[in-house]
Parts: sequence; structure tokens; C-alpha cells
Amino acid sequence: MRVAVVGLGYVGLVTGACLAEWEHEVTGVDADARRLGSLREGRVPFHEPRLPELVADGISTGKLQFTDDLRGASASADMVIVAVGTHDGNGGWQTDTVRGAIADIVPAMGDGATLVIRSTLPPDFIRQLPALVASRRAAVGAASIPVMLNPEFTREGRAVRDYQQPDRIVLGIVSDPDGHGEAALRELYHSAAAPIVVMGAIDAAITKLGANLFLATKISFANELAEICDAFGADVATVVDGMSYDSRIGGGFLKAGVGFGGSCLPNQVSMTIRTAAQVGVDTPLLTAVDEVNHRRRSQVVERAKALLDGTVRGRRVALLGLTFKPDTDDLRDAPALTIASGLIEQGASVVAYDPMPTARERSADLVPGLEVVPSSSDAIRGADIAILVTEWPEFVELDWAAAGQAMNRRVLIDGRNVLTGEQLAAAGFTYSSFGRGTLVPDAVADGAVASPAAVASLQWGGG
Ligand code: UDX
Repeated sequence: MRVAVVGLGYVGLVTGACLAEWEHEVTGVDADARRLGSLREGRVPFHEPRLPELVADGISTGKLQFTDDLRGASASADMVIVAVGTHDGNGGWQTDTVRGAIADIVPAMGDGATLVIRSTLPPDFIRQLPALVASRRAAVGAASIPVMLNPEFTREGRAVRDYQQPDRIVLGIVSDPDGHGEAALRELYHSAAAPIVVMGAIDAAITKLGANLFLATKISFANELAEICDAFGADVATVVDGMSYDSRIGGGFLKAGVGFGGSCLPNQVSMTIRTAAQVGVDTPLLTAVDEVNHRRRSQVVERAKALLDGTVRGRRVALLGLTFKPDTDDLRDAPALTIASGLIEQGASVVAYDPMPTARERSADLVPGLEVVPSSSDAIRGADIAILVTEWPEFVELDWAAAGQAMNRRVLIDGRNVLTGEQLAAAGFTYSSFGRGTLVPDAVADGAVASPAAVASLQWGGG
């Protein structure tokens, strides 16, 4: 199929490159000349595993092209997929960009072509879509076209795999009187071995939202459970493992730690709370999900204080990981940034390292007073405490015994529960995690021990 993908941000570029690999003829459209220039040279403006290879392959086979000519690309496509941004950057929606794109695309499209919206849209705007598209077609005397929603469920860091091997494909019918739009989307996805679920447009939009809200709820549940585990001396990882054999529960998205960040989960929880209130719906569960998630970040600061005898003032903190999760360079709503600000506010000097160079560059501007260094050993040297915030493999595989030798005090908060506490305690660390208690060093090493009172309060009082 000849496909135009409009908007070459995260969602659009992944969509275009994956469709080109499936041998569709893809034209990626974007107004940003610099972005187009880089893409034509095969340079992807953000980190996503396998995406640069797919873009390069698409360019070399001629299946993937880039242009700023929106009308031209729309006119020659069997399908136009709109993937422009709809966040206002302030926790709310903006629909100006998508409205503007539709105004240009729709009159140019050929009769028989299908318009597909992949951007996440507010339900109110979806209700207006059929009339908006019909009036633009009528204004140029063109026949009506099918309009479909096709929400995305891709995760950063696994986006190519999630696109090409999805758990399900959701199609929402905005307007498709003769089924042509649905048939076109089925053809588009013929290489994907996944169930295709067809539903109304608002149902599709809320399916997407509901999936993210449920994932966020699972994480906050795991984090609250972790506090209960800390208070009673249980191990949350063992408890979740025991729960996960129940097919009604499953084990995914129940990892306790510093909580969820990124561009989707936090934003969609807060946006839903706000939008639901506007239509008179109270959302106490989502409010709690949000609260539990944000409390986690201040709890890390409080825990660092408790482990350092009541204050972080004047202490050197090594912060390991800045991105909101591994395998991305995305810093949007990254827990590390809030934790760093909280520690700096309390007088700590925070030295951070992340394996992703672009994340290192940007985070120094985002957090005033944050020192960013080019290696984990630079961060750890002379630190009074290390806090692992993002579970990059490099931190999991670190020689912690050697790292401990370089620290001023061997104190570690494992914010993702990925290290083995017993090994760290054997290396002289006071090891604190979320929902797995706090372990004190096996052998007392110089300056390695937190005060017994602080440790006791963490073990039995939560924290
Ligand atoms: C999410 C959804 O997973 C995806 O389906 C949707 O299309 C976009 O939003 P993403 O934002 O890329 O994807 O990240 P995700 O893998 O969901 O992780 C979000 C956050 O939750 C990360 O900060 C991660 O560290 C955290 N998380 C995840 C946990 O704290 N515990 C878990 O068990 C899982």
C-alpha cells in the first residue's frame, strides 16, 4: 500500500519505519526541515533500539521516503496515518496541530483512500471528527472517505517489537459506512499475527487510555504492597511472584520501586483525573494511583536522610540513572529528576550519571545545581550514598565491591529492586530497597554503616 505517515515524532517514525519493513511504500511527512534532513541521512533524533537500522533499510530499498509536502503525500496515498502530538506540554490536551493537519490532508486525499488517526485524541474531539472531515471533503466537492482510529500501545525501548508483534491491534470506526476503512487497515497489518479488535471510535480511544491507566494502577499497587512488605518484614518480589501464578493476576507491571515516569503513564493518569472531573466523574482510585506514585519520589529523599543519620546536607549523593527507564533517552517525568531536585533542595550535592549521553546533556539544564559526570565511577567516587534510579544493565552488572571501596560510606538505595542485597551486605554495604527491607553490612567496614536506629525504622516502619 502507499502510505503517508504525518508527524515524524516517536509514534510516526516507528509506524513509518515498521510499515516500510513490511514492504509498504511509505512517505513520512514532517514540517521540521532539520528533522527531515537528519532522517534522510538515516539519523534518528531519539534513542530507540533497531529503529535506526529499519530507517536505513527503508531508505536503501526506497520503501521509506521523507518530505515536507503534506498535500502531495496525502494526494498520492492509499492511506494517510496521522501521528502528530496532542499533549499541550502542561498535562493537558491540545488539538490545534491535529486540526491543522486534517485541514490540509483531507481535501487532498483521493476518493477511495482511508484516513487513520494514530495520535491519542480526547473523546470530545473524536465526536467532532466525522463532521470535520465531511465538511472539508464537501468544500472541495470530493467524495466521503473512511475515517478510522488506530491507537498505539508501543513501549519506548521496545517500540519496533511492539509494533511488529503486537498483543492486539485495535481499530476504532469513526466513519466507515461500507467497511472500506476496516478492510484497508486489515491489509496494512497483514504481516502482523495478532488479533484485530474492531469497535467504535470512543471505545477504541478509551481502550488505549484504560490500558495505560490499568498499568499505572498495577505499579502503584505494587508500590503500596511494597510498603506493607517493608512494615511486616516480607519480600515484595517473592510475594508478587507467588501472586503471579494466578492467571487472573499475572506478573507484569508489578515491579515495586521508585514508580512510573515517562510521557504516557503519569500524564494520562493526571489528564484523566482532570477530564473526568470536568464531566462530573469522581476518580478516587486514579487519584490514589497518582499520589502513591509521586510519594515514592519524596520517600527516596526521606530514606536517604534516614540512612545518613537524619540529613543529606553537605553529603555527596551518587545518582545512577536519569532516564525514566532503560533503553530510552527520554527524561519526561523521569523520577530521577524529581529525586535530584529534592535532594539538592535539602542541601545535598548530587552527582549523576546515565549511560545515555543525550540524557546527560539535557538533565544538567533541567535540574539546577545537578552535577552530571561521564561515568558511574565518577559519580560514585567519594559518595556518601548511591541511589540506583534507572535499572540500566551497567548498574546491575557493576562491580559493587570495588565501587564500595571508592565511596566515602557504603550506603545504597536500590530504587528498582534489581540488586542482590545479601551480596551487597557481604561487600560492606547498607542496602536499602523498596519492599525488601534494609540489610546491614555483614562485616563492618570503615564508615559503611548507617545508624542502627535509622535502619530499624526503615525495616519495620516502612519509609
Ligand atoms: C507506556 C505503555 O506501556 C505503552 O503501552 C504505551 O503505548 C505508552 O506508555 P512507556 O511509557 O514506554 O509505555 O513505558 P513503560 O514500559 O510502560 O514504563 C513506564 C514506567 O513504569 C517506567 O518509569 C517504568 O520504570 C515503570 N514501571 C514499569 C515500574 O515502575 N514497574 C513496572 O512493573 C513496570
